[in-house]
Amino acid sequence: METLFSGIQPSGIPTLGNYIGALKQFSEVQDDYDCFFCIVDQHAITVPQDRLKLRKQTRQLAAIYLASGINPEKSTLFIQSEVPAHIQASWMLTTISSIGELERMTQFKDKATKQSEGVPAGLLTYPPLMAADIIIYNTNIVPVGDDQKQHIELTRNLVDRFNSRFNDILIKPEIRIPKVGGRVMSLQDPTRKMSKSDDNQKNFISLLDQPNTAAKKIKSAVTDSDGIIKFDRDNKPGISNLLSIYSSLTDESLESLQLKYKDSNYGVFKSDLAEIVKEFLTDFQEKFDYYFNSDELDTILDNGRDKAQKVSFKTLKKMEKAMGLGRKR
Ligand code: TYM
Repeated sequence: METLFSGIQPSGIPTLGNYIGALKQFSEVQDDYDCFFCIVDQHAITVPQDRLKLRKQTRQLAAIYLASGINPEKSTLFIQSEVPAHIQASWMLTTISSIGELERMTQFKDKATKQSEGVPAGLLTYPPLMAADIIIYNTNIVPVGDDQKQHIELTRNLVDRFNSRFNDILIKPEIRIPKVGGRVMSLQDPTRKMSKSDDNQKNFISLLDQPNTAAKKIKSAVTDSDGIIKFDRDNKPGISNLLSIYSSLTDESLESLQLKYKDSNYGVFKSDLAEIVKEFLTDFQEKFDYYFNSDELDTILDNGRDKAQKVSFKTLKKMEKAMGLGRKR
């Protein structure tokens, strides 16, 4: 069976964008791959975090993975900082990364400009840590949203470089982006990505938003003025974004939705979608509350950590040997 790995930062409450771009696909592939799902708290601290909030969000994210349908009997769910091989392998990959290629990452450039007290070096070395996350599990497939494409490309380059310089031991992963919903956009500015760290609450729907509040956000989402319900990302980004959200949450194709709403107006379409989002969140949050408040959550994370440690340690040792670290035994 091939291996699949993905991670989410506990840097806020995941949004509907994280669900549609990532979490939804995770639960759908559990039977087909040996899956590792990670709460990447070491990535989160590449920008300043409040320690108590980070702890809470880490637990919330674990419960969110489970509420999304991750089954701990099938998949390994764990916290990055509890498995030391991530940071150890990351150092090795950092030594073969060039400053130039890391500076070219668009996420680095975006996040670096937002830092008022100097740019943390961890923001620059974020991608080799992400590459380490992936390669230590001998990962074949990485399901992510569209915004992570460049990081996965870099991971693939680092794998080639490591294998050709040292020993051919690392597996080169393939990216997998959903056909619909790979890039869910902001509700008030549909030319920008929906992000969990956005300052304007109206731009995103958090998975823990009150369902009624979320419905209101959908109803007041920015659309254009021509009133035609048609998928056209370039010319009609607002309605196209809402169509993608609708399609993803109901599994109805974009074509069939456009047909269904051919003679409708934006008001009717938005109210229907608002209702769908409300129902989705109500059901989701019921499951979330159960896991968040259960001791089972800690057992799941303990077991996940143990399994992740076992698998990653093997790759780590091979990498150290290939690079000549430590003693020959
Ligand atoms: P993060 O925490 O920003 O986002 C988690 C996942 O959600 C996807 N995503 C979106 N998908 C569609 N529309 C959006 N608006 C949207 N916003 C976010 C992201 O693409 C991602 O799949 N660097 C990663 C975390 C990470 C990781 C990894 C991922 C660390 N190590 C190894 C995969 C493999 C990140 O910041 O994701």
